[in-house]
Amino acid sequence: MDQNDSSPETPDARKDSDLIAAARGAAVHSYAPYSRFKVGAALRFADGTIVTGTNVENASYGLTLCAETVAVGQAMAQGRRGGLVAVAVTASGADVVTPCGRCRQVLMELAGLGGTDPLIHCCGESEVRTARLSELLPAAFGPARLA
Ligand code: THU
Repeated sequence: MDQNDSSPETPDARKDSDLIAAARGAAVHSYAPYSRFKVGAALRFADGTIVTGTNVENASYGLTLCAETVAVGQAMAQGRRGGLVAVAVTASGADVVTPCGRCRQVLMELAGLGGTDPLIHCCGESEVRTARLSELLPAAFGPARLA
């Protein structure tokens, strides 16, 4: 993750300020009664569409769904199979939140289908760190490996 790209004032983050706002909006509906850690995710597609998700916890803790995974599921349920150009992830704490390993792999499936390498905006209260998905998940196992 490029530390020089860590301010919300960077061009990439500014360009996607609506995407970041959509992720923050999605987190309002977070179901996180156990961790109280409310996560929002927003995906931008090449046609401009934004699809959101939030974390959905479960009394059987291990069955919890992360916000990014819910957003990818929502997008794929709408028939999207590529065109993922940017992702924003927000959380209730002040610190920058980065996607967990499973979510990186889930995002890679959708990105890989369309051959894109989306920007991932990892947002904190007053800081955004931006990286490409390929930087967060190097040497990824993606759909092309099985084509
Ligand atoms: N969580 C996400 O939604 N996305 C991540 O990438 C990391 C973790 C959620 C899962 C759980 O509801 C809460 O954050 C605490 O781990």
